[in-house]
Amino acid sequence: MSSRLTSRPEFAILIRASPVNERGLVARFPRITGWGKYLPERVLTNQELEQKVYTSDSWITSRTGISGRRIAASTETASTLALEASRAALRTSGLDPAALDLIIVATCTPEYIFPACASVLQDLLGARRAAAFDINGACTGFIHALATGCQFISAGTYRNVLIAGSEIYSRILDWQDRNTCVLFGDGAGAVVLGAADSPSCALSIVLGNDGSGTDIIYTPGPCGINDGRYFLTMRGPEVFKFAVKVICQATRDVVAQAGLQMSDIDLIIPHQANTRIIKTASRTLGVPMEKFFVNVDRYGNTSAASIPIALCEAVEEGKIKDGDNLVLVGFGGGLSWGAVTVKWAGD
Ligand code: UT7
Repeated sequence: MSSRLTSRPEFAILIRASPVNERGLVARFPRITGWGKYLPERVLTNQELEQKVYTSDSWITSRTGISGRRIAASTETASTLALEASRAALRTSGLDPAALDLIIVATCTPEYIFPACASVLQDLLGARRAAAFDINGACTGFIHALATGCQFISAGTYRNVLIAGSEIYSRILDWQDRNTCVLFGDGAGAVVLGAADSPSCALSIVLGNDGSGTDIIYTPGPCGINDGRYFLTMRGPEVFKFAVKVICQATRDVVAQAGLQMSDIDLIIPHQANTRIIKTASRTLGVPMEKFFVNVDRYGNTSAASIPIALCEAVEEGKIKDGDNLVLVGFGGGLSWGAVTVKWAGD
C-alpha cells in the first residue's frame, strides 16, 4: 500500500498560446497527485518454473534478471487488480472517487472485449461522474494513457483523471513455452492526475509506432481462453534489439523536447522487461545504472502495469526527491514506444 507523501510532481505544457482556449475552457497543467500499486499475493519462483519447463534459475536470472513474479488468483481480473492500485492512488492523493472526471485503464488482458476494464473499474470505485475507456498499447500502454490524460487536463476539459495500468499475462501465456512463460507476471499500478494552475517544468511527450513489427510480439485472441490458439508469441531477440534502440532514442528525444540535458535527469523509470535491456540502454546513453529504477527481479514483466508499479515503488523507497526530473519510458507490442518527462515538485 502507498504511503501519503508530501511531494507532488508537476508538469507543464511546453507551448501554450493562451490560458483560455477557443472553447472557453481554462487550460491547466497536469500534475501527479497520487500513486498506488497492487501485486497479487502468489509468488511464482524460478525454482517452481524449473518443474514446469526445461529451464533453470541460473538461465532466467542471468538472461533476464528475474527471480520471481506474481500470479493473480482465479477470482482476480484486470479490473480488480486495477481497483486495488487505484484505491491506493486515490488514498495518496486524498481524492474521493466521486470527484474523478475520467478513468483510463491501459491493459491488453481485460476480462471482457467490452465493456472496457475502465468501465468495470468505474463502478467498483463508485466514481459515478467519471467517463471511462481503455487503451491497448501493450507494454507502452501506460505511457499512452498518461499522455492522453495529460491532454484532457491541459485542454481544460477535465480536472481529475485516474490512469491505471493493469495486466494478467498469466492468462495469455503458454506455460509449456520456456521462451515466454518465465518472463511475465501479473500486477497493477495507478496514478491520479490533477490540474495545477501554474507550471514548474516542461512536460514533453514522445510517442511512436512501427506497425510493420506486428508479428514480432503478439497475442491473437482474448485473455482467458487457454485453448492454445491465443497464447502470446514473441521473437525475443528481435524485441530486445528494438527495445534498446527505442529506449535510447525516445529518452534522448523527450529530454531534448523538455529543454533539458541528459545530465539534468535524476531518475529513469523504464518498462521492466529485462535487466540486460536496461543495462545496455544505460551503457548506450552513458547514464549510470544508479539512475535507472529496476524492480523486474521481483515482478517480471507486468506489461502496461510495470511503469506505474515502478514509479510507486521508487517513491516509496525514497528514490525520488522534490525537484527531481524523471523520464518514464516504455516499449512493446505494436511495435510501440513512448516516453514522458516529469518534474517532481513539492506542494
Ligand atoms: O515488453 C516487451 C516484451 N518482451 C521483451 O522485452 C523481451 C525482449 N527479449 C529478451 O528479453 C530476450 O531476448 C529473452 C530473455 C527473451 C531471451 O534471451 P536471449 O539471450 O535473447 O536468448 P535467445 O532467445 O537467443 O536464446 C538463447 C538460448 C536458446 O538456446 P540455443 O538455441 O542457444 O540452444 C534458447 O532456446 O536460450 C534458450 N532459452 C532458454 N533456456 C533456458 C530460451 N528460453 C530459455 C529458458 N530457459 N527459459
